[in-house]
Amino acid sequence: MASSQCLLLSSLAIILSFSLTQCLKTPTDLQVFHMYPSNHLSWLDNVLKMQTQDKARLQFLSSLAVGGNRSVVSIGWGRNILQSPTYIVKAKFGTPGQTLILALDTSNDNAWIPCTACVGCGTTVFAQAKSTTYKKVPCGSPQCGQVLGPVCSPDKTCASNFTYGSSSIQTRVSQDTVKLVAQDPLPNFTFGCIEQTSGGSIPPQGLLGLGRGPLSFMSQTNSLYKSTFSYCLPSFKSTKFTGSLRLGLVGQPPKMKTTPLLKNPRRSSLYYVKMVGIMLGNKVLDIPPTAFAFNPTTGAGTVFDSGTSYTTLVKPAYTALSTEFKKRMGKATVSSLGGFDTCYTIPIPITTIPSITLMFDGMNVTFQQDNFLIKSTAGSTTCLAMAAAPDNLNSVLNVIGNMQQQNHRILFDIPNSRLGVAPQMCS
Ligand SMILES: *[C@@H]1O[C@H](CO)[C@@H](O)[C@H](O)[C@H]1NC(C)=O
Ligand SMILES: *[C@@H]1O[C@H](CO)[C@@H](O)[C@H](O)[C@H]1NC(C)=O
Ligand SMILES: *[C@@H]1O[C@H](CO)[C@@H](O)[C@H](O)[C@H]1NC(C)=O
Ligand SMILES: *[C@@H]1O[C@H](CO)[C@@H](O)[C@H](O)[C@H]1NC(C)=O
Repeated sequence: MASSQCLLLSSLAIILSFSLTQCLKTPTDLQVFHMYPSNHLSWLDNVLKMQTQDKARLQFLSSLAVGGNRSVVSIGWGRNILQSPTYIVKAKFGTPGQTLILALDTSNDNAWIPCTACVGCGTTVFAQAKSTTYKKVPCGSPQCGQVLGPVCSPDKTCASNFTYGSSSIQTRVSQDTVKLVAQDPLPNFTFGCIEQTSGGSIPPQGLLGLGRGPLSFMSQTNSLYKSTFSYCLPSFKSTKFTGSLRLGLVGQPPKMKTTPLLKNPRRSSLYYVKMVGIMLGNKVLDIPPTAFAFNPTTGAGTVFDSGTSYTTLVKPAYTALSTEFKKRMGKATVSSLGGFDTCYTIPIPITTIPSITLMFDGMNVTFQQDNFLIKSTAGSTTCLAMAAAPDNLNSVLNVIGNMQQQNHRILFDIPNSRLGVAPQMCS
């Protein structure tokens, strides 16, 4: 472990109130951390809080999926992460580099950070005046044309004003050198510099969108990283987190099971795949194919998302899974906990519920109990850590959440239009 680096991170961890992880080392690997909603809550309360926050996240994903032509996305539109910060990475902005902590978000194209003199931001900001390479993007530039709600300021630079719930947020469309990996400075990287936010609080760290739309990090770094990345997310129960975000072709697993990525032109940033079935143990559950159908118009289908904590399935799929689960548990009393409705106060034997397999086009991914059971630290309650899409939402989207992705390497290979999954311990 590179201890000086980790020490720095520990002190940041205290300031930012996230649970710390560790330090990874191949050249293009970035450290990935998990951030709990609060250090002041018990582990179980955090779990429940994350589950509650997933609802807002799902609302956000659903709105993306059905919200019409969204192939043009705003810089600085970070409303999902205002709800539910999860995995984060470090990045250096400007010259000389200033370290910021960015939330990792595969369903968002944008990068935004709080900047000096921001009204309503936290204390950790990017001091743009101290960077010799910082520039504001002029009105009329191609980047200004790609943001949502562009506003041309009197000094002829481009701003982007957007609202989130009762909050309004103003970002300055900006460019500067950004470094996620020390040896790969990214000159003239376009991002939103938050100048003003009101009506609510925004998290102290910025956001790094890993979606695949035009202004996303992957699009902007295409010549360097070839629109290819993978990550391994550590368990959020582990006290020693060690995840990694791997950018580019180098070091990606040569052989892994993959499934084709699907494109939804209405929401170009989401990573859609085709799920075809679910197995509990060796039993393929009886779920109508319509539960998995991909439909770009309604947004229906299945996405992998780094910002949703727990997998949510459309009603018929979740019901089939929960029903089979309960059937196998026999007469044991079922309880609920927060948004989870398949919970037990007795142990769930591995012989009874050995595994859950998500079946995708060309790829079966089998998860062991650690990836689908949430156990309270006191050991009194264990729940199936998945849920049905809430009724009040457009319930057509299956979302593979980050708890189910933990301790797997997930490869996003955009040029070859495929998503790969392989077990890998990184907790
Ligand atoms: C959406 O895109 C289609 C095809 O590019 C276009 O014909 C249509 O007018 C667009 N709709 C809106 C609301 O922008
Ligand atoms: C953005 O909105 C804020 C608050 O509504 C307003 O004060 C500001 O003038 C707007 N910014 C621009 C550049 O129009
Ligand atoms: C970045 O922008 C500056 C000025 O706007 C330009 O001179 C420089 O060539 C650009 N660098 C790259 C690598 O595009
Ligand atoms: C997934 O598992 C099912 C059931 O065992 C099997 O029929 C199917 O061929 C498998 N799919 C792949 C891609 O291996």
